Amino acid sequence: MGFARTPAATGTGVTSPRQQTNTVSGYLDGSAVYGIDSTRLEWLREGPVDGDLTNNASPLLLPGGYLPRADARGNPVSAPSMDLFGGLAGTPQAARIAGDVRANENVALLAVQTLFAREHDRIVAALPSFLSEEEKFQIARRVVGAEIQFITYTEFLPALGVVLDPYHGYDSAVDAGVSNEFATVGYRGHSMVHGQFDVRFRPGTFSAAQLNAFRAQGIGMRKEDGQTSLQIPLTVAFGNPDLLSQVGLGRVLRSLSQERQYRNDEQIDNALRSVLFQVPSPGMASPSACGQPVVQPGCYTAVQDLGAIDIARGRDHGMPSYNDLRRAYGLSPRRSFTSVTGEATARFPSDPKIDPADPLDDPSILDFIRLRDRDGHALQPLSPRSQEEAVTGIRRTTLAARLKSIYKSVDGIDAFVGMLSERHVSGTEFGPLQLAMWKEQFEALRDGDRFFYLNDPDLARIDQDFGITYRHTLADIISLNTGTSVPKDVFVVAPSDG
Ligand code: HEM
Repeated sequence: MGFARTPAATGTGVTSPRQQTNTVSGYLDGSAVYGIDSTRLEWLREGPVDGDLTNNASPLLLPGGYLPRADARGNPVSAPSMDLFGGLAGTPQAARIAGDVRANENVALLAVQTLFAREHDRIVAALPSFLSEEEKFQIARRVVGAEIQFITYTEFLPALGVVLDPYHGYDSAVDAGVSNEFATVGYRGHSMVHGQFDVRFRPGTFSAAQLNAFRAQGIGMRKEDGQTSLQIPLTVAFGNPDLLSQVGLGRVLRSLSQERQYRNDEQIDNALRSVLFQVPSPGMASPSACGQPVVQPGCYTAVQDLGAIDIARGRDHGMPSYNDLRRAYGLSPRRSFTSVTGEATARFPSDPKIDPADPLDDPSILDFIRLRDRDGHALQPLSPRSQEEAVTGIRRTTLAARLKSIYKSVDGIDAFVGMLSERHVSGTEFGPLQLAMWKEQFEALRDGDRFFYLNDPDLARIDQDFGITYRHTLADIISLNTGTSVPKDVFVVAPSDG
C-alpha cells in the first residue's frame, strides 16, 4: 500500500524530533460547519463572495436544504477546497462544500454536517428581523456550537461510558489543543464503524426509476417483516455526496439511529480494510460487483486498509509503544499478552484445523467459532441474523495468541493495536488506556475552552431575549430539521429497532 507521511512541522525532524501540526481547530465550536477561516466562511454564507464578510447574509447557503456543490457559485475551482475521495476525484464540481474538508468522505458524515448547517438556518429564521444579518449569524453560530458541546458531553460521552471529573469552570492553564496521541491513536474510532447502512422506507417513497438507479450504484434492497430497506454498502457511501439528497437527510439519520455500532475492539469492518477509497478497475460496473468482502482478483486497482494505515500513522508520528503510552497516562505497563486482552491463554490450541508448523499464516486461526448478540445469546455463524446482530465474535484462537505470535514481547506492541486489544472496563466501550485518553482530552477541551457552554453567559441571554435554547438532544435537532421522528436517544438502538 502507498503511504504518505504527514509533513514535518517547520523546524522539526532534523536536529529535533519530528512533529506534526494540527490543521483544524480542536475546540468544539462548530468549525466543522463554519470552517476556521473567513474565506471559507464567506463562501458558505449567503451573499456575495467579494472578500468582505460584512455584506454577507446570516443564513448558510443550503440550496434545497443540502450543502452547496462546488459549482454552486459558478466556477468550482474558486470554491473552498475539499478532500476528494473515491470517484469524486474525477468530478470535483460535485463535492459538497462544508466547514471541514473531509465532509464528503461518507454519507453519514455528510449527513451530520448538513444537519447542523440546517440547524443554523433554522435558528436564523427564528430570530427577530430587527437584528442585523451579522448579529443573527453570530447568535446562530453561538447556539450551534453550544448544541454540539451539549450533545457531546451529555449524550455521546455517557453513551460510551466516559465519565469526566466535575466541571469547575474555565481554567486558563489548560491547553485545549488536541494531542498528537489522541488524534493518532486514541480517537481513531474506526473499529466501531458498521460497513453498511440499512435505510428503511415506506412503499411509494421512491419512484421505480430511482430504485433502479440505486441498484445500478450497487445498493441492495431487502424486504423483511413487511418493510423494505435500502442496503447501502460503505463502498457506495464513500465520496458519493449526491446519495444524501437522493436518499433524504431524515432517512439517512434515522438509519444511523437504528444501526448498532460494532464493538470497539481489534476487528475492523472489511469495508474499511479492503476497498477504502478504491475505484473499481475498468470493466467492473459498480463496487458491488466486487463482492463483499472483496474477493475477485483484479477487482480494484489497489487496496487500502485503514487499520494498517492507523498503525503506520502511529509510527509516522513517533507514537510511543503501547506500554509506554500506558505509563504516560499513569497506568502500569502490562507484563503478559493475556493481561492485555483478559483472555485465558496466549497459546494456539492444538486443533486439527490449524497448521502447527506455521499457525500465524494459517487463515483458519481467524475462523469464528461462536457469535453472540448484544445480550450474549449465541447466533448461528453465517445466518442472516448473525449478519445483522452479531456484536461479539469468538475466533478459533485467542487474540493474545495472535498478538504474541506477531509481537513476541508485550513491550513491542504498537499503541493503537494494544489499546484496541484491551479488555473493556465494565460499563464502557473502552479498555483502560483508551478510556484514560478520552477522559483527559475531553476534560481539556471542556476546561480550556473559555466559551464552553457552561461558562458562556450569553447563551442564557439568548434564551431569555429570543426564546432560543441550546439544550437540545441530537434527536431534537434531527426532528426539528428533517421532520423525521427518531428515538429520544439516538446514541442507543431502541429495543423496537433491534
Ligand atoms: C466510514 C467511516 C470512516 C472512514 C471511512 C474514515 C476514514 C479515515 C481516514 C482515511 C483517515 C486518514 C487516516 C490516515 O491517513 O492517517 C481517518 C483519520 C481519522 N479518523 Fe476516520 N474514518 C471513519 C470514521 C471515523 C470515526 C467514527 C472516528 C471517531 C469516532 C474517526 C476518527 C478519526 C481520527 C481521529 C482520524 C485522524 C485525524 C487526523 O488527525 O488527521 N474516524 N479516517
